[in-house]
Amino acid sequence: MTTPAATPGTPYGTLPPASPLPQRRPISLPRLAQMREAGEKIAMLTAYDATFAAVADAAGVECILVGDSLGMVCQGLSSTVGVTLETMCHHMDSVSRGVRRVQGTAWLIGDLPFGSYHESPEQALRSAVRLMQAGAHMVKIEGGGWTAPTVRFLVERGVPVCAHLGLTPQTVHALGGYRVQGKDEAAAALLRRQALELQDAGAAMLVLEMVPAKLAASLTLELPHCHTIGIGAGKGTAGQVLVLHDMLGMNLGKMPRFVHDFMHDAGSVKGAIEAYVHAVKQGQFPDDAVHAW
Ligand code: KIV
Repeated sequence: MTTPAATPGTPYGTLPPASPLPQRRPISLPRLAQMREAGEKIAMLTAYDATFAAVADAAGVECILVGDSLGMVCQGLSSTVGVTLETMCHHMDSVSRGVRRVQGTAWLIGDLPFGSYHESPEQALRSAVRLMQAGAHMVKIEGGGWTAPTVRFLVERGVPVCAHLGLTPQTVHALGGYRVQGKDEAAAALLRRQALELQDAGAAMLVLEMVPAKLAASLTLELPHCHTIGIGAGKGTAGQVLVLHDMLGMNLGKMPRFVHDFMHDAGSVKGAIEAYVHAVKQGQFPDDAVHAW
């Protein structure tokens, strides 16, 4: 009787090898600025565990967001409001370990969850330190206006910050639901003012969620030092982000209109993520006629 050859890795599966693409360089803030200057779009996806993060990295995703959307995706919550800092650190740690194991290059962003940065800039710093000790290179905080001094406080202390305007899911109850933001002139003007304040405070990145494509495109031109990353914000932003499970066609609720199911035509998860990266880089996703407002 022959014994089957031992396979490397754990009995439960191995992480994929690092992509052999020769141009892979560690992603950093200067590298993202170079990409922007060269007109190359930034591809971002969420991930919540080691294996998906390693696959996303190998498929060419530059930025991995450990989003508090994990509350819905991984924990079965009805919103992100109940996600704790402890849970965020747990997932950040797994993602960071997964990317390191394959010698990955992705820039790792972690969401500061609801309540972990609202009390004071000092509280935000304590929370950011915990998330960075778990592997984050940058933290994301939602909202404008009151957040600008907090962003400045963090940036001055060496914490890179990604801001988040438009639909800010942590305040879904105050907003009255998951709806498009910045639609009328007054709302667009407020969003523009907040975005400029956040850039001025040192935010190096800004997620724009569910805002009209025209507004997102014009904000992108007005924010040369803050890379706009759109989700349901049209193709005019510096980069795009989607929730991983959505773009793989796995959404337990109603699929948002701005999502495309990349798994439909791909033979594998890696194939689907590669197709997403390609479509973002080529300006094929999002298609403003289908995915934007
Ligand atoms: O939590 C998250 O996944 C996010 C993205 C939707 C941008 O904030």
